[in-house]
Amino acid sequence: NEIVLTGIKPTGKVHLGNYIGAIKPALQIAGTSDCTSLYFIADYHGLTFIQDRDEFNTLSYSIAATWLALGLDPDRVIFYRQSDVPEIFELSWILSCLTSKGLMNRAHAYKSIHDKNEQLGLDSDTGVNMGLYTYPILMAADILLFQSDKVPVGKDQIQHVEIARDIAEGFNRIYGDTFKLPDYIVDEKTAVIPGLDGRKMSKSYNNTIPLFEPAEHLKKLINKIKTDSTPPQAPKNPDTSNIYLLYKEFATPAQVQDFRNKYLNGISWGDAKQELFQVVNAYLEEPRKKYNKLMVAPVQIDDILNEGARKARAIAAPLLKKVKLKIGRYN
Ligand code: TYM
Repeated sequence: NEIVLTGIKPTGKVHLGNYIGAIKPALQIAGTSDCTSLYFIADYHGLTFIQDRDEFNTLSYSIAATWLALGLDPDRVIFYRQSDVPEIFELSWILSCLTSKGLMNRAHAYKSIHDKNEQLGLDSDTGVNMGLYTYPILMAADILLFQSDKVPVGKDQIQHVEIARDIAEGFNRIYGDTFKLPDYIVDEKTAVIPGLDGRKMSKSYNNTIPLFEPAEHLKKLINKIKTDSTPPQAPKNPDTSNIYLLYKEFATPAQVQDFRNKYLNGISWGDAKQELFQVVNAYLEEPRKKYNKLMVAPVQIDDILNEGARKARAIAAPLLKKVKLKIGRYN
């Protein structure tokens, strides 16, 4: 029985990159194989970025409502809020005592801010809190505490899963075989979904297409996707087109074939965007309704999350106990 685990941090609206890179594959795995899936809201990771109480609360619910609206079945998936599982934070501390500072210096979330500060001639740690700095250790605890085999993520999280592996190996070396070594699952084709400007779609680049925007706004955003200046009637290469890449994720195989032919025969970027909007909007229409309904009174989600936390803790507590025995805490 394989354990599959993934999380999303509540630092902004869930966007197409999150959906295609992580949520869609995670839901596919949960729906098809007989594995145990643990999907969670990484709210305490989000706290390193969001320190407005109401925003933090709403964004956390928004992540939960997104998963549920997209079809997560809480009877099949253990679905919880990270902060409801205190065992994770206890393990995180234990792991941090075995993790070298140098490893954190190289972790990219921290390193990118550090390097940018240096370029700007600022103190290299400007804007860095300790939560951001030790972020990968908490993520290792998320993963290792459940003996995860597989972690479906986008490319930007590969390094973090590798760090979790390193930390697990370090612990196993000192205290004997304890943690499973996790693997990431990344689909090369969708590992980096581009945003409106062609860079990686990311909340921090402000180039996202959020999943559940009203149709009119979705259309506006899709129209903003950057394209080249190939003339309208000229044949176009679908395999280098961001519009085509997104289209494939939301259309049927027959629609994709048809769209491909249009590219080869010449389609204007305006028309391509219009068709992309049609399929994305049709695909998301029902989930969007469910999402909006859940967000009217998001506390209705609490029962589901509380039950998920109960199940998660039932798995986490015995493992944490085992870890404590290994390090010399006997009661
Ligand atoms: P987060 O919240 O930044 O992103 C959630 C997931 O979406 C993926 N993703 C993308 N995939 C493809 N193209 C993109 N443009 C794109 N943008 C984001 C991310 O790779 C991620 O899989 N640290 C994690 C949350 C986390 C976690 C964990 C994940 C905490 N603990 C344990 C897995 C296991 C994060 O910040 O993801």
